[in-house]
Amino acid sequence: MKPLTITSRLEVYESIDEIPKDVQDLMQEATEVRENAYAPYSSFKVGAAILLENGEIVVGSNQENASYPSGLCAERTAVYSAGAKYPNSRILKIAITAKSLRHKVISPVPPCGACRQALVEYEVKQEEPIELYFMGETGKVVKAESIKDLLPLVFDNSCL
Ligand code: THU
Repeated sequence: MKPLTITSRLEVYESIDEIPKDVQDLMQEATEVRENAYAPYSSFKVGAAILLENGEIVVGSNQENASYPSGLCAERTAVYSAGAKYPNSRILKIAITAKSLRHKVISPVPPCGACRQALVEYEVKQEEPIELYFMGETGKVVKAESIKDLLPLVFDNSCL
């Protein structure tokens, strides 16, 4: 038996005021598109904004469905939109913010496992990490330098 130790390094910022200005702007885009979430079942609204190498920003919000599994998270809405619109432009950064209509979300909300898997596909494709920032409605912002920091032991095309 050989132990395998996995480490991830994340950065925690006390507030949005501490993150770089371009990411503050990206988070602002995520905050605006968060309002477009269609979340009548969970009342949980998530916004995601993606900065591409070509300078374009592509956004997404969660879209729910009466058939619950048919809905889609904000991050996948955004990343699939980016892939559909700008298939050849690398993804540099993604900013994510969540709010609830039921309580104030003051802790950072990380992307769900399925979204981590969807996002890492593009890191593998572009052979460059994607910076990820996530927060609640207010409060701390967490930064990961790569999706892989949130998804070690990644399942990717090398496994097939
Ligand atoms: N949601 C996202 O949009 N992103 C995540 O990473 C976590 C969850 C959405 C899905 C659903 O519409 C609502 O939040 C509650 O789970």
